[in-house]
Amino acid sequence: MSQLSQKHLLGIKNINREDLELIFETATKFKEVINRPIKKVPSLRDITIANVFFENSTRTRLSFELAEKRLSADVINFSSSTSSVKKGETLLDTVNNILAMKVDMVVMRHSSPGAPHFLSRHVDANIVNAGDGTHEHPTQALLDTFSIHQKYGSLEGLKVAIIGDILHSRVAISNIFALQKLGAEVMVCGPNTLLPKYISSLGVKVELEVKEALKWCDVANVLRIQLERQQIKYFPSLREYSLYYGINKQLLDGLNREITIMHPGPINRGVELNSDVADSDHSIILEQVENGVAVRMAVLYLLAGVN
Ligand code: CP
Repeated sequence: MSQLSQKHLLGIKNINREDLELIFETATKFKEVINRPIKKVPSLRDITIANVFFENSTRTRLSFELAEKRLSADVINFSSSTSSVKKGETLLDTVNNILAMKVDMVVMRHSSPGAPHFLSRHVDANIVNAGDGTHEHPTQALLDTFSIHQKYGSLEGLKVAIIGDILHSRVAISNIFALQKLGAEVMVCGPNTLLPKYISSLGVKVELEVKEALKWCDVANVLRIQLERQQIKYFPSLREYSLYYGINKQLLDGLNREITIMHPGPINRGVELNSDVADSDHSIILEQVENGVAVRMAVLYLLAGVN
């Protein structure tokens, strides 16, 4: 069996193209499995996985849990809001206590950038980053690029615009790395205040006008405004943001060609994306969710083969 070059999935920045292609190849096989009447395979029987979430999640947590169950792993779920973290326990103590129960892999979401990297230096289990603050969200980028790959057959030469709150987005950063490694051209678009100053040093095009970004791209990955990470006002109001950056059917109709609309969720309907776009034939948002399970099955299965 081909193996990943890494024991952990901490981010996309340090992963190589061969690893990405191996994950896609494996995810394609698992996508077939989850569309069969019997959706379960015994690949991770006797492997125990802890989903350790220190930050809110719907899609990622459920998708990992389903992926683990489809692979026949034993699964335990930890949520910081109902745990002894509230009594002052450290991250390392919490995880070491979970690992003492003979857990093999840890899927972790944390609000602090670098938390899964810290953990990977101190414990033996395979660590999967399920989103660390504003840093990276590797499995989201894998499922996004896998979804584009499924639709177009290849990302080579494809133009992908990432539109919205780039400043606070781990999804944007992981997507930029994955898209570039797979040969796509990347543009970011948003108000100046929501674009990090370093962004052009990542080799992406920068555009302030959403209409121009839509004219340029084959695929638009639309991000939400992350109000929970904003301590100051980056734009006057959500109404004004929606007026200048919201994507609606009228904008897409004006392009005179088809583009694909993606969104990692959760969508703020009527802010960054109108329902007439989110629910239209342009959108592959629910395919992204389906592909997320197959991609996470691939990641867990491949990591389990690396000690
Ligand atoms: N896309 C994503 O990470 O969604 P959740 O925050 O619901 O997991």
